[in-house]
Amino acid sequence: MSLEDQFRPVSYSETTLTELMIPAYANFGGKIHGGILLSLMDKVAYACASKHAGAYCVTVSVDNVEFLQPVEVGEMVSMKASVNYVGTTSMVVGIKVIAENFKQGTVKHTNTSYFTMVAKDDSGIPTKVPGLILENRENIRRFLETIKRKELKSTYKYELDNARTRLSVDTDLYKLEKERCKLVAEFN
Ligand SMILES: CC(C)(COP(=O)(O)OP(=O)(O)OC[C@H]1O[C@@H](n2cnc3c(N)ncnc32)[C@H](O)[C@@H]1OP(=O)(O)O)[C@@H](O)C(=O)NCCC(=O)NCCS
Repeated sequence: MSLEDQFRPVSYSETTLTELMIPAYANFGGKIHGGILLSLMDKVAYACASKHAGAYCVTVSVDNVEFLQPVEVGEMVSMKASVNYVGTTSMVVGIKVIAENFKQGTVKHTNTSYFTMVAKDDSGIPTKVPGLILENRENIRRFLETIKRKELKSTYKYELDNARTRLSVDTDLYKLEKERCKLVAEFN
């Protein structure tokens, strides 16, 4: 049986990446740069997806990155990744980010994001990935949730494309009246 006809359990590719937040990662406000966290998330998404696929993978899209709480220098950040869904050549990897402060004895959940990764063959063509064996209710819930998220994303994209087509700088100008912007003379 070839690799793409196989199924692999979620647990096979579950990956955790843990890293200490050092001063070099801080922004001018003394908190950790969002870009550092995004880079670590991309790494763990790659590790998780390529292990499931047994192939080189690329990042196609990233959903819902919202850093609701800052991460501080000295905290230990862990990124817990698992394949939540597989399509034909794509996989959705869910990543839960937590930051532990050993001095204060606190653990905070900073965000959960979803990376869509596509497996590629040696010629750079998308290649079929193994199916997913769902081992518990949480795996099933995440798979179902991803189907729903994909449906909503596609509806959102359709609506947004329509709205952009209908948008007119001339007829929609009044919508700016309550916004915090000013128009140069030629538009008044
Ligand atoms: C993503 C990419 C592989 C799609 O290539 P393509 O020739 O259009 O291939 P397909 O249309 O067959 O799509 C392949 C898979 O990607 C998925 N996909 C394509 N665009 C997508 C998007 N915007 N969001 C989510 N999934 C997407 C498709 O649904 C398909 O999944 P499936 O096989 O599970 O059904 C191609 O655009 C690419 O290589 N992009 C660059 C990725 C990269 O280099 N990332 C690193 C950051 S620079």
